[in-house]
Parts: sequence; C-alpha cells; structure tokens
Amino acid sequence: MEHAILFATDLGLGTCWLGGTFSRSRFAEKIEVRRDEIVPTVTAIGTNAQSPQARDWIRERARGTDRLPAEQLFFEQQFGKPLLAVGAGAYAAPLEALRWAPSASNKQPWRIVRTENAFHFYLARTKGCGKGSLLFFLLQFADLQRVDMGIAMCHFELTARELCLAGRWVVQDPNIAKSDDRTEYIVSWFG
Ligand SMILES: Cc1cc2nc3c(=O)[nH]c(=O)nc-3n(C[C@H](O)[C@H](O)[C@H](O)COP(=O)(O)O)c2cc1C
Repeated sequence: MEHAILFATDLGLGTCWLGGTFSRSRFAEKIEVRRDEIVPTVTAIGTNAQSPQARDWIRERARGTDRLPAEQLFFEQQFGKPLLAVGAGAYAAPLEALRWAPSASNKQPWRIVRTENAFHFYLARTKGCGKGSLLFFLLQFADLQRVDMGIAMCHFELTARELCLAGRWVVQDPNIAKSDDRTEYIVSWFG
C-alpha cells in the first residue's frame, strides 16, 4: 500500500493513510468486507487543497514533521550500540529513507540491527499498542504497528533497489538480545 501511495505522490497527488477498524463501519458495508476479513487501513487520495494552512497546523501540532534520530533507531551488532552513518556504507540512503517513513501516530516503532551480512528488523511496540494489550483485544483494534513495519520495509527496499543493492527478505531470527520485552523480531534483509 505504501508503494501505491509513493506512486500517487510521484504523480503529484495527495494521500493520507487512515488507520482504524474499518471492518465494522458503514464504509466496510460499502466495500463488502466479509466477517473473516480485516481492513486495518485505507487511504484518501486526491488533489491537494489549494491552501494547506489547516493541514500544516494539524501536522505541526501532531509533530508529524519530526522523526527520531538515527542513533535511536539503527544499531550495530546489538541493541544500544548505534550504527554510525559511515558504518552503514551503501545502506546509509535506504536507512535514511526508512527513517522518514510515515507511521501511525508518528510512533516510528522500527528498530534495525545490522550484522555482517544482514539488517534485522524489529518492532518496538508502544506500550498498550497491539498484541498482549487487553484493550486492543477487547476492542479488536487493528495492529497498526505491524502495518508500520511494512511501510519501513517498503522504503528500505525501494531505495536499496534504486541504488542497485541486491538483497532479499528472510524470516530468520538472529537471536540478538532484545532491549526489552516489548521488542519483537520481524524480518531480515540479507544483502
Ligand atoms: C498506519 C498509519 C495510519 C495512519 N492513520 C492516520 C489517521 O487515521 N488520520 C490521520 O490524519 N493520519 C494518519 N496517519 C498519518 C498520515 O497518513 C501521514 O502519514 C502523516 O501525517 C505524515 O505525513 P507526511 O507523509 O506528509 O509527512 C497514519 C499513518 C500510518 C502510517
């Protein structure tokens, strides 16, 4: 879906990820969602408003223009040891494109640990968000932080491919000691 959004952006269109539970709404009726289907997100798409002041005001209030610094997101061999830009080598650009990816409530839950031949992607869950949270279970909220991980993978992979960096996704937990019990392994990029 992020790939489609980037494509639309390239065409000069405006978009906005909308996250929530669309499976039981009137909108769900319109698109005929079945009982066993989940629609965690949809996107608005269209021509940008002429005067973006209102949108910019909301984005500023929601700190939508800020991103966490690289040293809090990318690590070398183990959590807690920041991956310096110079150490990232050819992958500095894919990591920077990932850093600027959008995420639900701008939480940026991705954490990446680089080892000799791979980048291991982890989801550092925001407290009370998703799996294990009673509120999420009871209200059947969509797991938007997993959607965020897909967006991060998309930015990373598209930039790597643009730079002709060959690689592939593999699910193979490297068993690196995690920073806390809200952090879970998702996938690795082997370059
Ligand atoms: C999974 C996901 C769900 C989102 N849900 C909403 C939403 O419900 N309402 C909203 O205004 N923005 C939502 N956003 C944020 C915006 O779509 C947008 O990504 C953010 O404002 C960053 O804008 P920018 O790409 O122009 O920097 C969501 C983003 C993601 C990734």
